[in-house]
Amino acid sequence: MSHTTITIPGTKAEMPVIGVGTFGSDHVSASEMAQAVKLALDIGYRNIDCASVYANEKEIGEVLHASTISRKELWITSKVWNDMHGRKNVITSAKQSLSNLRLEYLDLYLVHWPFPNYHPPKCDVSSRSPDARPYIHEEFMETWQAMEELVKEGLVRHIGTSNVTIPKLELLLASCSIRPSVNEMELHPCFGQREFRSYLAQQNIIPIGYSPLGSPNRPERDTTAEDVVDMENPIVVELAKKHNCHPAAICLKWARGNGIVPIPQSTKERNLRSNLQSVLTEPLTAEELALLDGAECNNRLIKGQVFLWNEADSWHDLWDEDGTIPCPKSYCKGGV
Ligand SMILES: NC(=O)c1ccc[n+]([C@@H]2O[C@H](COP(=O)([O-])OP(=O)(O)OC[C@H]3O[C@@H](n4cnc5c(N)ncnc54)[C@H](OP(=O)(O)O)[C@@H]3O)[C@@H](O)[C@H]2O)c1
Repeated sequence: MSHTTITIPGTKAEMPVIGVGTFGSDHVSASEMAQAVKLALDIGYRNIDCASVYANEKEIGEVLHASTISRKELWITSKVWNDMHGRKNVITSAKQSLSNLRLEYLDLYLVHWPFPNYHPPKCDVSSRSPDARPYIHEEFMETWQAMEELVKEGLVRHIGTSNVTIPKLELLLASCSIRPSVNEMELHPCFGQREFRSYLAQQNIIPIGYSPLGSPNRPERDTTAEDVVDMENPIVVELAKKHNCHPAAICLKWARGNGIVPIPQSTKERNLRSNLQSVLTEPLTAEELALLDGAECNNRLIKGQVFLWNEADSWHDLWDEDGTIPCPKSYCKGGV
């Protein structure tokens, strides 16, 4: 299988157009995930989406170390977790991820969430950490400057954001020295974030799509009664019948057809194979992609409730839906 790639804007770097996710939620152990990464590499994946908070980088590092695939063929992403924001911590965390993954550099390093709000593992979904606060731009910039420093030191080749919004990106783009190359965000047919994607296209920032299948086995804290199931959407199902494939394949072809780099996760060889194949073969036509626009229902799955601060009304406050960033005066030294 050829490794179709997308060029990182302004560089000659090539990122494979599909990656494999490594978030095991509450049901895939670190060693099982490492085994899945080994399988994925054997099958032909070259792009691996890691993060320190997934607590499996050490095990994945062993797989990478044992692999005979040359480093330059691989695209490895990691992310700094919310409890490691700030200049010193970002550098420490990147070095820890490098050591765990047994690598000398990361292809891509992301700020996992744009605020330092931390929640203890398996905490109650309605609990609010007393230290949690809304986005504070000057604080985020300290974290971003450390990201830039990592690039300058050669520890990281490219940097990016995750779980940000247009207003937050606008502030970052106005203040940064090194622009984000990508934004990792939730994207699937029932949550297509069309306006955000067209903003990213204007800004030459590549969207990486997480939970591209609608994350059927996501943690309970991220599941609400109103959530819909992408793989059961009638348009997705109808197109799957037409193409004689699983609805998962249609979700991934939707991503590819819209210039999104999806990072589906699986521990099963059959699914890993079919996910890779779905993205690399038999694209959907423009008409089919337009038809899939009908699946859009603004169904955000990863709502982020556990990151809310005391004064926040609801998870909607995390996503700047009215185009402004909430900033209770008590948290801000002035401005945003
Ligand atoms: N930046 C962020 O904040 C963020 C947030 C969430 C996720 N992520 C990243 O995105 C990755 C993917 O997201 P996700 O894990 O939430 O959800 P996902 O990829 O949408 O769904 C994964 C689930 O789908 C199943 N699956 C995979 N391929 C399938 C197929 N062909 N047919 C049927 N079922 C299939 C898997 O089960 P089987 O093992 O049974 O195949 C797995 O439980 C994560 O692993 C992580 O790396 C990033």
